[in-house]
Amino acid sequence: MEKKIAVIPGDGIGPEIISEAVAVLDAVAAIYGHKFVYEEVDMGGVAYDKWGDPLPREMLDKCLNSDSVLLGAVGGPKWDTIPSDKRPEKGLLRLRSGMGVYSNNRPARIWPQLAASSPLKPEIVDKGIDFIIVRELIGGIYFGAHRTMEENGEKRAEDIMSYTESEIRRIGRIGFETARKRRKKLCSVEKSNVLDCSRLWKAVMHDLAKEYPDVELTDMLVDNCAMQIVKNPSQFDVIVIENMFGDILSDEASMITGSIGMIPSSSLGDGTRGLYEPIHGSAPRMTGQNRANPIGTILAAAMMLRFSFDMSEEADCIERAISAVLDEGYRTADIAGAGEETTGCREMGALIRSHLAKTEVH
Ligand code: IPM
Ligand code: MG
Repeated sequence: MEKKIAVIPGDGIGPEIISEAVAVLDAVAAIYGHKFVYEEVDMGGVAYDKWGDPLPREMLDKCLNSDSVLLGAVGGPKWDTIPSDKRPEKGLLRLRSGMGVYSNNRPARIWPQLAASSPLKPEIVDKGIDFIIVRELIGGIYFGAHRTMEENGEKRAEDIMSYTESEIRRIGRIGFETARKRRKKLCSVEKSNVLDCSRLWKAVMHDLAKEYPDVELTDMLVDNCAMQIVKNPSQFDVIVIENMFGDILSDEASMITGSIGMIPSSSLGDGTRGLYEPIHGSAPRMTGQNRANPIGTILAAAMMLRFSFDMSEEADCIERAISAVLDEGYRTADIAGAGEETTGCREMGALIRSHLAKTEVH
């Protein structure tokens, strides 16, 4: 198969982790006889520096003309003081919105080899951590009006959170469908004791539940959910959640699995074209030191093969190669135990590729 992939290295450690993931994709292409053609896209701080815009129209078009998009990370302190609509993050938000990818899927799964890196007590980890956060990605407070004004001699700022029923229904469906393919438990997370958006969210979820009698729907307030994720994470199968709450809880969920550096994410809309990225940021202080963990991005590339290209065998083989490297005890700095030797970003990528090379295709 031939696929066109838009590749966005972005800022900070972005280019380092992306080059390992692209090399892994090339290894997979060689093994399975596919052809991946890459189109490099500038987005984030790097695009602002070059073009004065964190996502120029031509760059968005390149993404829309590809079969899928692979992204490293964007942002950094260098761009903290520029106007808010030019910030690197704005490029990412415009990309998500421009691609119409309303459904962001963030798995929180413990790798048995890394159980000791979880900050939770072993008796909690041993009960199992394997859930998915389905985060609404192109609505809510991220996309409402943002304003700062002068009022009575002081500044006042406001950010509007709003959701329509149809925006909630389409992400709700993804939540139910995802649960249906797993342990059939869906937890809808909101703040319905305070927010109108959340009351509408809850009502739409319960309406949808009538179409999914095989899925058990529960509701949880977001503050309680933040607590339950560290107290008893094994209770969760699929969480469906609005944009900002999902941003916050997905960082928490990743940390209990050992490291945010291991977690990929997929963002999909109604078609097969997706946006795939690790959930961590651009880690500016780690840039250029060969210390980043490329596994989150390599897993994101595997997700792209699985969900956008229907190449599940190829995706399985990437995941197996990662597992084998972890079995051998190799650890990047973020997942190494105290006193353990650490493996660099490039070396980790090369180790994964050397396992891939042993794959036999039937
Ligand atoms: C994420 C990030 C982004 C978000 C930032 C970089 C805009 O934190 O993907 O979780 O808030 O969605
Ligand atoms: Mg985040």
